[in-house]
Order: sequence, then structure tokens, then C-alpha cells
Amino acid sequence: MRQIAKGLLCLGVAMVIAAAVGCTKLPPPTPLSELNPQQMRGHDVYQIRCAQCHNDRTNEPLNGQSLRGIFKKQYLESGAPANDDRLMDAIILGRPMMPAMGRAITPQEREDLLAYLHTL
Ligand code: HEC
Repeated sequence: MRQIAKGLLCLGVAMVIAAAVGCTKLPPPTPLSELNPQQMRGHDVYQIRCAQCHNDRTNEPLNGQSLRGIFKKQYLESGAPANDDRLMDAIILGRPMMPAMGRAITPQEREDLLAYLHTL
């Protein structure tokens, strides 16, 4: 009985450490060849507006964090929930070190971009 409790404790500690160092594995992004037309348009928007500062298909940070698996995580870097609305706020209003896109990005482009980000 004690042995089992000890085992469970070790497992719990290991899981906390794994979560803390972020080695929880995210499922891979959808391959580009499998994107639908809207997601493909979003990929184009991404290349023009985001790619110089954020990687999308690797975990390496550039100017900002990688956006790989952005919607598969619970929170954005700032601690805001990782959902469409909060992400759009970041894009439209900007962040301290990220330029606000405001109206430079059309409503259609926003929708397409979100569709693409959901495939990452
Ligand atoms: C000029 C560089 C730059 C560009 C272009 C840029 N970002 Fe960022 N982004 C950053 C930096 C730096 C941060 C880190 C937060 C900060 O500003 O301090 C960030 C943060 C973020 C965050 C995290 C927000 C949060 O609440 O934690 C998201 C999501 C994001 N960017 C998405 C995008 C998307 C999508 C695009 C394209 C539409 C984009 N970024 C374009 C530099 C950039």
C-alpha cells in the first residue's frame, strides 16, 4: 500500500515538472498540402503580416513566441485565454512590442488568418 502511494507521489511530481518545463507534446500542425482554400489564404496573410516575428511550424521563438499550437494551448503568453477574441485583440490592438495591425488587416483577412492559426 505504501509502495503504491510512493509511486503515485513520484508520478505526480514528474508530471508537475514536465508541465513546468513545457515538455508536454502538442500535436503537429496540419500539413500545408491539406489546408482548405480559406486556411491557405490565411497562410498567405501570415507570411505577410506575422512570419517575420513569429515562427508557425517550429517551436523556436523569433521576435515573439512561436505560434505553433497556439490554439492547442490554454493560455497566450500574457496569460489571456487562447481563444479567437483574445488573439484578435493582440492582432488589432498590438502588444507592447508588437505593432497594432488595426484596419490594415481586413475583416476577411482576419477570418482567414484565424482559420490558418487553428491548423497550427
Ligand atoms: C514586429 C514583430 C511582430 C509582428 C509583425 C507580429 N508580432 Fe505578435 N508579438 C510580437 C512580440 C515581440 C510579442 C510578445 C509580446 C510583447 O509585445 O511584449 C508578440 C505577441 C503575440 C501574441 C501573444 C499575445 C498575448 O496575449 O500573449 C500573439 C498571439 C501574437 N503575437 C500573434 C501575432 C500574429 C497572429 C501576427 C500577425 C498578424 C503577429 N503576432 C505579428 C511581435 C510581432
